[in-house]
Amino acid sequence: MRVTLTAALASAILAHAAPTKDARDVDTRYPYVGPAVPVGDFVNNSPNGNGKGFPRLSEAPAVKPSSSNPTNNINVINMGYLPGGMNIHYQTPFGLGQAPMVKYGTSASALTQTATGLSSTYDRTPSCSMIKDPTQCSQFFHNVQLTNLKPGMTYYYMIPGANGTTASEVLSFKTARAAGDKTPFTVGVLNDMGYTNAKGTQKFLSQAAEDEIAFAWHGGDISYADDWYSGILPCQPDWDVCYNGTTTELPNTPPAPLPAEYLTPLPAGEVPNQGGPEGGDISVVYESNWDLWQNWMNNVTTKAPYMVLPGNHEAACAEFDGPQNQLSAYLNEDKLNGTAPNSTLTYYSCPPSQRNFTTYQFRFRMPGNESKGVGNFWYSFDYGLAHFISLDGETDFPYSSEYPFLRDLTGTETEPTEDQTYITDSGPFGKIDNNQWKVNTAYQQYQWLKADLEAVNRTKTPWVVAMSHRPMYSSEVSSYQKNLRNAFEGLMLENGVDAYFSGHIHWYERIWPIGNGTIDSASIINNSTYMTNPGVSMAHVINGMGGNIESHSSINVSKILNITAVLNQYNYGFSKLTFHNETVATWNYIKGIDGSVGDQLTLIKKPSAATSSHSSTATGTATNSASGSATTSASKSSSMSKSPSTSHSTSHSTSTSHLSSATHTATASAPAGPPGGPSGPPGPPWGPPGPPGPPGPPGGPPPPPPSYTGW
Ligand SMILES: *[C@@H]1O[C@H](CO)[C@@H](O)[C@H](O)[C@H]1NC(C)=O
Ligand SMILES: *[C@@H]1O[C@H](CO)[C@@H](O)[C@H](O)[C@H]1NC(C)=O
Ligand SMILES: *[C@@H]1O[C@H](CO)[C@@H](O)[C@H](O)[C@H]1NC(C)=O
Ligand SMILES: *[C@@H]1O[C@H](CO)[C@@H](O)[C@H](O)[C@H]1NC(C)=O
Ligand SMILES: *[C@@H]1O[C@H](CO)[C@@H](O)[C@H](O)[C@H]1NC(C)=O
Ligand SMILES: *[C@@H]1O[C@H](CO)[C@@H](O)[C@H](O)[C@H]1NC(C)=O
Ligand SMILES: *[C@@H]1O[C@H](CO)[C@@H](O)[C@H](O)[C@H]1NC(C)=O
Ligand SMILES: *[C@@H]1O[C@H](CO)[C@@H](O)[C@H](O)[C@H]1NC(C)=O
Ligand SMILES: *[C@@H]1O[C@H](CO)[C@@H](O)[C@H](O)[C@H]1NC(C)=O
Ligand SMILES: *[C@@H]1O[C@H](CO)[C@@H](O)[C@H](O)[C@H]1NC(C)=O
Ligand SMILES: *[C@@H]1O[C@H](CO)[C@@H](O)[C@H](O)[C@H]1NC(C)=O
Ligand SMILES: *[C@@H]1O[C@H](CO)[C@@H](O)[C@H](O)[C@H]1NC(C)=O
Repeated sequence: MRVTLTAALASAILAHAAPTKDARDVDTRYPYVGPAVPVGDFVNNSPNGNGKGFPRLSEAPAVKPSSSNPTNNINVINMGYLPGGMNIHYQTPFGLGQAPMVKYGTSASALTQTATGLSSTYDRTPSCSMIKDPTQCSQFFHNVQLTNLKPGMTYYYMIPGANGTTASEVLSFKTARAAGDKTPFTVGVLNDMGYTNAKGTQKFLSQAAEDEIAFAWHGGDISYADDWYSGILPCQPDWDVCYNGTTTELPNTPPAPLPAEYLTPLPAGEVPNQGGPEGGDISVVYESNWDLWQNWMNNVTTKAPYMVLPGNHEAACAEFDGPQNQLSAYLNEDKLNGTAPNSTLTYYSCPPSQRNFTTYQFRFRMPGNESKGVGNFWYSFDYGLAHFISLDGETDFPYSSEYPFLRDLTGTETEPTEDQTYITDSGPFGKIDNNQWKVNTAYQQYQWLKADLEAVNRTKTPWVVAMSHRPMYSSEVSSYQKNLRNAFEGLMLENGVDAYFSGHIHWYERIWPIGNGTIDSASIINNSTYMTNPGVSMAHVINGMGGNIESHSSINVSKILNITAVLNQYNYGFSKLTFHNETVATWNYIKGIDGSVGDQLTLIKKPSAATSSHSSTATGTATNSASGSATTSASKSSSMSKSPSTSHSTSHSTSTSHLSSATHTATASAPAGPPGGPSGPPGPPWGPPGPPGPPGPPGGPPPPPPSYTGW
């Protein structure tokens, strides 16, 4: 039986404020048998834990309640672009008793217009009625669309009070600039950002949201709520930051003293919220982690639109088990602090509302429908000189890391049995023609991307950039990268996408311009300047250093592949992407520790690029047809067998399989001799270390292209 989550609560709220039935659903053929409210750090749930007390973390709500004992409150406000408008999304613990409403106008003192929208809710575990402080819980999600707005304009708005909420103050936003508007602008790009270790990212992103960036673009892994059970993962002595008794301070600074709230025991009878008796600064309850993180981000999300796409951490309540399979014992046998001989986690192990990207679908509102994409999963929008594409790198393409049920079937089955499923099974969110899940072109996401790219008017938006959560290339080689390439790289090259951003690996890594595994040396102007080359290569950046409870990914420098131009595995932060004009865009990696620039890349348009994006070349269809030969085994089995104790610093759920070190000769600091420049020694930037020559103009004969063998 399939249930629509919203149906359960729909009768409790007034008809006109209730959501229309939608397609977000989860499967409930097998009963959920875990605890009513799964609480992490269950290895020791006494209030004093290991003597560090129970940290009760709280962050300010979007609206400060006018009374000291509020019964309802607007805790989170975030915005998302709509074509010709803006969606105002806000969250409250309880229903409003009326349709959600926004008053707005072009002057702060004359909010002459009113728009109403729709509310939705789901069976949150625990429900907000179990959380003492209504400013720290969200269970009702409201979306009000303001449309027919003028581009590039500041609008003012306020959310009136309803059923106990305090009205918001007058807030403002700027609409997207019209496609073709040539004014320069900057975007904040971030990935893999939770609460722990992300203080610097939050601080500098908040500052940028104030006046510098047009919007923030978060490429998946949002909040790390699913690490609620992290108390079962033992800290390792060599981790610079661990959630066990550490703070949200940045690493490599003198350890700060424990904050006072860590020393305050949880009052008897209070439902655990954030933090855990073992110490630590986030975890314990899945939904509460979301609430904490979203409240914390209000300083960003009330100031600039916040565009998101899905990551693996949004899929379900957990991804894999810990030592002695304590999570299997807990969720499947309701045994606190028990062990299980094998991991038995299935799709049905999480409470129903914590499966299949449910929370993620309610807590944001992206323009999927309006751009012919799907919900918060894939969509596109224009801003000035650029076309932005958000992709789903988790589901909805062949061999995606999260499986549709279709892929769990054997023989003539039409539905998988319980033990054939996996905890992160999700999607598909679009159609798969004739259920041909191995065929790239059968996917609605692929068909949409093709149509979307082909419809771009490059005269208006000469820049086209795309992001999904997962990289196509990295020195940390993994099988999902091949699946991503097989699904999307050919289409992107054929249609002249300029850059592809991702996260997933928790570091900053810039790849040399690359296409179909071959470094495009002719497009390297110098160490930090690439020429775009439609049909041949794209710039790739892995921007996964936002900061989260899982700390950094790491690699021995001897294993860094020669596709990697820059690698920083130490500093958290985010990036700023600036479109200066039709020919120049720059990328700056901002370090969270002090706001300084950790890497800079300049992209220069190839002179003919704007008019010849469908130029010939051998890139297009071969990669697509190759999808059928991708192997099925790697990503799922490796994520199931992932042992947290050995892989804490690399959160991503698929394995790394480095090539033998003998084939990796280059390092991140290989010098940048210009290809063919007259004054520096000719040769590619990944050559043996030596003094870099002064930059010379491009145009000399390029060296023979190296091949990427990290398949
Ligand atoms: C949980 O089990 C561990 C051993 O695995 C033990 O040290 C600890 O005291 C137990 N905690 C509780 C609350 O039983
Ligand atoms: C109004 O808020 C209260 C909590 O303060 C809640 O119990 C009630 O369900 C809400 N009313 C509606 C119609 O949602
Ligand atoms: C947390 O740290 C304490 C020491 O401070 C240690 O005894 C305990 O085992 C740690 N717990 C985990 C889950 O690593
Ligand atoms: C939000 O911004 C205000 C004003 O700049 C500041 O006082 C506050 O500390 C910030 N809070 C967070 C959580 O960033
Ligand atoms: C547990 O896994 C081992 C291999 O890791 C396997 O040999 C054994 O049969 C499994 N036990 C059960 C009960 O599935
Ligand atoms: C999707 O957008 C169309 C118009 O573009 C609208 O008619 C339809 O109601 C929308 N559907 C949803 C679920 O928002
Ligand atoms: C996830 O939800 C979608 C609808 O949004 C549904 O089509 C799909 O079957 C669901 N998948 C799983 C594994 O629950
Ligand atoms: C593309 O945009 C330009 C500039 O606005 C316009 O002149 C041209 O007609 C557009 N092309 C198409 C096919 O719409
Ligand atoms: C584009 O912007 C860059 C960086 O600001 C500048 O150096 C260049 O001259 C500009 N080009 C044009 C054609 O305006
Ligand atoms: C991509 O590279 C592979 C070898 O790595 C080659 O077999 C294939 O033909 C190439 N595809 C295209 C479209 O160039
Ligand atoms: C290339 O640039 C990066 C930073 O942008 C720097 O770390 C690296 O040392 C540079 N390499 C050379 C050879 O200049
Ligand atoms: C880069 O490394 C690959 C092996 O991983 C090798 O085949 C290729 O020749 C190298 N390229 C350069 C320019 O060193």
